[in-house]
Amino acid sequence: MSVLPASLPLRVSHAARLRGEVRVPPDKSITHRALLLAAMAAGTSRLRSASTALDPHSTVSCLRALGVTVEPALEAGQTPSATGPGGLAGAIDWIVRSPGWLGWRAPNGPLDCGNSGTTMRLLAGLLAGSHIAAELDGDASLRTRPMRRIVEPLRAMGASVEAAGSDDRPPLRVRGWRPLDALDWSTVVPSAQVKSAILLAGLAAAGTTTVREAVQTRDHTERMLRARGVAVESGQDRDGTSWAVSVEGPTQVPPLDEAIPGDFSAAAFWLVAGAAHPDAELRLRAVGLNPTRRAALDLLRAMGAVVEEQPDAPAAGPSGEAGEPRADLVVRSSALAAIELGPADVARAIDEIPALALAAACARGRTIIRGAGELRHKESDRLVGIVEGLSALGARVELEGDDLRIEGGAGREAHGLRGGPVASHADHRLAMTFAIAGLIATGDTSLEGAAAAAVSYPGFFDDLERVRQ
Ligand code: S3P
Repeated sequence: MSVLPASLPLRVSHAARLRGEVRVPPDKSITHRALLLAAMAAGTSRLRSASTALDPHSTVSCLRALGVTVEPALEAGQTPSATGPGGLAGAIDWIVRSPGWLGWRAPNGPLDCGNSGTTMRLLAGLLAGSHIAAELDGDASLRTRPMRRIVEPLRAMGASVEAAGSDDRPPLRVRGWRPLDALDWSTVVPSAQVKSAILLAGLAAAGTTTVREAVQTRDHTERMLRARGVAVESGQDRDGTSWAVSVEGPTQVPPLDEAIPGDFSAAAFWLVAGAAHPDAELRLRAVGLNPTRRAALDLLRAMGAVVEEQPDAPAAGPSGEAGEPRADLVVRSSALAAIELGPADVARAIDEIPALALAAACARGRTIIRGAGELRHKESDRLVGIVEGLSALGARVELEGDDLRIEGGAGREAHGLRGGPVASHADHRLAMTFAIAGLIATGDTSLEGAAAAAVSYPGFFDDLERVRQ
C-alpha cells in the first residue's frame, strides 16, 4: 500500500498514454458483508481475497471488539502482506472464528466504525437482534451522516436505538432485543445499507420482514444469504412501483468459505480514465459485474465508451465468488457524448457519480444529472466537491438544487481540462476522481487529501503510476 502524506498535496501530472492491466481491489461492500455474515455464524468461515482497505478494516476491528477472531489465513512461510491471490496488495484471506451472533460479548468501549457508513448501519442491524448493548461511533465525516433512516425501522422492530448526536447523527447506541418484531418497511431513499440493516435484523425477528424500495439497490446481502441457504424472496411489488425483498425469521446463518470479486466501483475510475483519455487501452481484471452494481458501465457505454467484456478465469474458491458474476473489462479511448441521468440512474450508480461527472466534463455537449441529493450525505457533500474540483480544472459545472449540469469540452481531442488545485475533502471517491482528472488534464494537478483513496482502494496510486506511460 502506498504511504501518502496525509496533508501535503500530491502532484498528478498529465499522462501521455495509459496502457496496461489493473487488478482492482476486492469489493468493499461484499467484504463488509462477508465479515459480518461470518461473525453471525457459529464456527469457522474463510474469506478468500477480501479487501484490505480502511473501511473493511473498520468492520474487522469492530468484530474483534465483539469477541470474534479474525486472522489472516497464512500458509507456511507466508506473511500477512503476501496473502491473497498472487500476494496482491489490497487482498487478504481471512479466517473468521465466531461464537455466533448470540455469543458476542459486550465491547469494552465504543465500536469505532472509522469512515465507514456500511459498518455502522449494517452492524446496527445486527446489534439490534443480539443479546448485547453497544455504542457505534466514527470519524468526523461519519458523525455527520444521517442515521434516522435506520433508527426508525430498528426501533419499530423493538430494539432500543438512539442516535446520540444532534439531528439523529452518530454515535448510535443500540441495545438488542430477541425476538424482534417482523417489519414491513418502505425506505424513504433507496439505500442498500438501510435495506441490509433491516433484513439482517429480520433474521432475528419472528415472521416475515420485508423492505420495499423505489429502485432496486445493490443486492449483495440477498445473494450472500441465499449462498448460505437462507431463503430470500425478492421481486417487483404487485403494483409495479417498488422492489420488495423479504426474509423469514428467526433463522441461523451457517459459516461459509467464499471468494470476493473485484470492486466494480474501483473499476469505474479506470473505465472513465480509459474512455476519456485520448490515448488509452486498459484491461481491468476479474471485475464484479453484479447487475445491481454495473449501471455506470452501461451509462458510460450510452455516452459512447468503448468497453469490451471478456470472460475471466473460472471463479476461485469452493463456493464461487459470493454468488456474483465477474469478467475482465477492456476499455479504449472513446469519443464521449453528453447524457441525461435521472434519480433512478443516480440510485443505481450512487458511488460512480463523481467519476461519471468527470466523464461528462470530457464529453461533447451538456450532461444533466437530476435528483442527486443523496450525494450530499456521503463521506462528504459530493455535489459541492464535484463542482469545486471540476471547476478548478477548468470545467463548466453548475449545481441547481440537487441537479448537476456539466458542459463538456469538444470531445476527447480537446476536453479542455487543465491542471489545477483540487481537494478530496477527505473523501476517497473524490480523491480518485480528481487523480484520474489529473491524468487527463494538461499540466499538473495538485490533489489535497489524496490519502483518502485508501478507504476503499489502498493500491490506487501504485496502479495509477503503473498505467501511466
Ligand atoms: C453501500 C451502499 C451505498 C454506497 C456505499 C456502500 C453498501 O450506500 O454508497 O458506498 O455497501 O451497502 P447507501 O446504501 O447509503 O446508498
